[in-house]
Amino acid sequence: MDQSEALQILKSGRSVFLTGQAGSGKTYVLKEYIKFLRDKGKLVGVTASTGVAATHLDGMTIHAWTGMGILDNLTKKDLKKIIKKKGVSLRIRNAQTLIIDEISMFSAGQLDIAEEIIRYARGTWEPFGGMQVVFCGDFFQLPLLIDVEWNQWESLHIIRVLGKSLNQKFVILQNSIAIRIKTILMF
Ligand SMILES: Nc1ncnc2c1ncn2[C@@H]1O[C@H](COP(=O)(O)OP(=O)(O)OP(=O)(O)O)[C@@H](O)[C@H]1O
Ligand SMILES: [Mg+2]
Repeated sequence: MDQSEALQILKSGRSVFLTGQAGSGKTYVLKEYIKFLRDKGKLVGVTASTGVAATHLDGMTIHAWTGMGILDNLTKKDLKKIIKKKGVSLRIRNAQTLIIDEISMFSAGQLDIAEEIIRYARGTWEPFGGMQVVFCGDFFQLPLLIDVEWNQWESLHIIRVLGKSLNQKFVILQNSIAIRIKTILMF
């Protein structure tokens, strides 16, 4: 799959997990997509799991975007406090798409917290409050996944890494060792 195919899939509005080897142009594709959305006047949450990765996209950390900060568990009280922050709940409610780059640095538990905040702010039970989510990253660096082959990769392992909020069907669009960018549709 090349970059333009990946971009086409993103433009279809499906939620996607974009992966591929280091330097394959994942972040570049995200930037193109962000530009596309903004040109259409759409609001997009541009985030990454680390400050450095966020700067590459001119975005903010997912911790700041969701207001979750460094929480590693979320009580009802935390949730209410976070939602009261005007900036946070407004941007969550208005965003059409949420992008998280370098997702491999984010833990399954943290992802669940982010997802719960988003769902709560948007007042719906749909995963991520029904918005398009684009996860991007390289899981090959994780010891957990080092021995996993491409064609075994799908169900078990990604779900294990990403946590219970994503315990849903994944469809891998292309699954050949030769591809540089791999796009996985979610939900
Ligand atoms: N189509 C392209 N045209 C011009 N430059 C590109 C293109 N695709 C990628 N690049 C450049 O190649 C370099 C690596 O791309 P990028 O940072 O997007 O890769 P990545 O897959 O996100 O890597 P990492 O896994 O390290 O995050 C960057 O400098 C980027 O600007
Ligand atoms: Mg990158």
